[in-house]
Amino acid sequence: MCGIVGYIGNRDAVSVLLNGLKRLEYRGYDSSGVAVAHENHQLEMEKATGKIVNLEKKLLAHPLSGTVGIAHTRWATHGIPSEKNAHPQVSYDGKIMVVHNGIIENYAQIKSRLEADGVQFQSDTDTEVVAHLIAKLYRGDIKSAVLDALKKLEGTFGLAILCADEPDVLIGARRGSPLVLGLGDQGEYFLASDVSAIVDYTQKVVYLDDNDVVIAKRSGYEIVTVSSRTVNRSVEEIDFDADAASKSGFEHFMLKEIFEQPEALRNTMRGRLLLSEGSAKLAGLDSNRLELRNLNRIIITACGTSYYAGMVGEYLIEDLAGVPVEVEYASEFRYRNPIIKPGTLVFVISQSGETADTLAALREAKTKGATVLGICNAVGSTIARESDGGVYLHAGPEIGVASTKAFTSQVTVLAMIALLLGRERRVSAEQGIDFARAISNIPSQVEETLKLSDKIREIAKKYVDAKNFLYLGRHYNYPVAMEGALKLKEISYIHAEGYPAAEMKHGPIALIDEKMPVVVIAPKDSLFDKVLSNIREIKARGGRIIAITTEDCTELSEYADDVIIVPKVEKPLMPLITCVPLQLLAYHIAVLRGNDVDQPRNLAKSVTVE
Ligand code: F6R
Repeated sequence: MCGIVGYIGNRDAVSVLLNGLKRLEYRGYDSSGVAVAHENHQLEMEKATGKIVNLEKKLLAHPLSGTVGIAHTRWATHGIPSEKNAHPQVSYDGKIMVVHNGIIENYAQIKSRLEADGVQFQSDTDTEVVAHLIAKLYRGDIKSAVLDALKKLEGTFGLAILCADEPDVLIGARRGSPLVLGLGDQGEYFLASDVSAIVDYTQKVVYLDDNDVVIAKRSGYEIVTVSSRTVNRSVEEIDFDADAASKSGFEHFMLKEIFEQPEALRNTMRGRLLLSEGSAKLAGLDSNRLELRNLNRIIITACGTSYYAGMVGEYLIEDLAGVPVEVEYASEFRYRNPIIKPGTLVFVISQSGETADTLAALREAKTKGATVLGICNAVGSTIARESDGGVYLHAGPEIGVASTKAFTSQVTVLAMIALLLGRERRVSAEQGIDFARAISNIPSQVEETLKLSDKIREIAKKYVDAKNFLYLGRHYNYPVAMEGALKLKEISYIHAEGYPAAEMKHGPIALIDEKMPVVVIAPKDSLFDKVLSNIREIKARGGRIIAITTEDCTELSEYADDVIIVPKVEKPLMPLITCVPLQLLAYHIAVLRGNDVDQPRNLAKSVTVE
């Protein structure tokens, strides 16, 4: 959510910053801006609304040059998307420029104090107070002014700051919003809210902690805390391939990521499945073995798609390990005074590892004494670092705003956790071996499923003008129905609801008429006949049915308008297969409607505000 890039070195800062912004555009894209510092103590900037291409056009007409700069791509929180609200925000004297991710919660109080002091505000943003405050506190030393200003701020921030009178200094600061320092060659440093912005230039990074402030000059850098204590943070080598963050010939990142799933899943399970023992080895949980053995209750907390993966996890863990699991939206968990007793283990799931609600839930659980384990994709992310242990997805960067490969990787990790817990409890070696084998076969079965893409595109053409969709599934496929509906809403802007199939008759059936497409997930399993009854009920009311099933059968083709046949796998792993046609259906409908699939309106990739 919003992206920050900063640079100091000897290259043309603007091209480094623009390149970084393009890599971050998926995090927010309603306006952008760039600023450079000049040796003659002037700061210069350019801003534009809309996508970064608009900023590039403006820079062609009015080029900026320099070797120190900051840049931002925005997802609006305070103030509508407009040039005046785009970042950088500038101090009243033009001497300080700031780009910011996060929310300054006490901005209204600071603003009224500054206004009383004669400062005139130019924007509707909370960020502007930061620029004015630093300018007010500046007495010839930008480091002290920033530290003094930060002490007055409440809320969250990732900041990059330039000062006209110290054009050879780049400052970054973080509290609650991610920021990394990249170390380049020969006195060059980068700041970024996400490593993907700087992978073209360096693989060496320092992940800043909350309340860290970095002061970077060509001669070196130092990190101090807001309370002025010098700290050493370790330099880490990032395992991030710049190619992985490009579209590699696919029309959209989302499609690429859907098609990457077999490979992503192989990476998720690589070295972790113990096929001969029928168990799993998850190194990130090794130091928590005692808690895993002694737990008597699990809480899974997450948001959005990660929450739906958690719902599948609930079924998996209860089924295999017989441990009670509760799944809760992180945004609810954090404000609800949850009950955590000895033996309660909390899992937080987050692709980005930066979702504000999930991070707050993690902290709340830790405050209450729980051991918290993270399931994250982004290595070194805040949630990964603050968890007591956990499992990385290794799915590779997910750039498309609608999550796809992260979901299947999350479910795969949860299946391995369920297997591990199950083997310590009630799963026999034989059952474990069968299940581990079944997991290992999933990537090739996803590969098979992906071959349906063209057929699904044809089906999508029939429903492209629908105004509403209903998604139904039972048991393991109920969370998949929820996830399928979410995918459609996000990128096609068609209203969609996911429901447990049998709940339909308790209300949503009233919505069904000949205009209402209903996607029913109906694998040929023990619940097939029950789902078939639901299908008949829909047909009797004129609904149009798209059925996802596992074998050709006359019962279904009699009622369904379209049937999509996917490979049959073990029931608990079925979500890994049935979600794929739903991802493709949402994708093709959105493309046919002419929508921007990778950057759908109003959304941002990682939601770092409440
Ligand atoms: C949906 C989607 C969101 C995220 C949610 C949580 O396609 O991407 O619903 O799943 O914002 O994000 P993470 O997993 O990064 O915490």
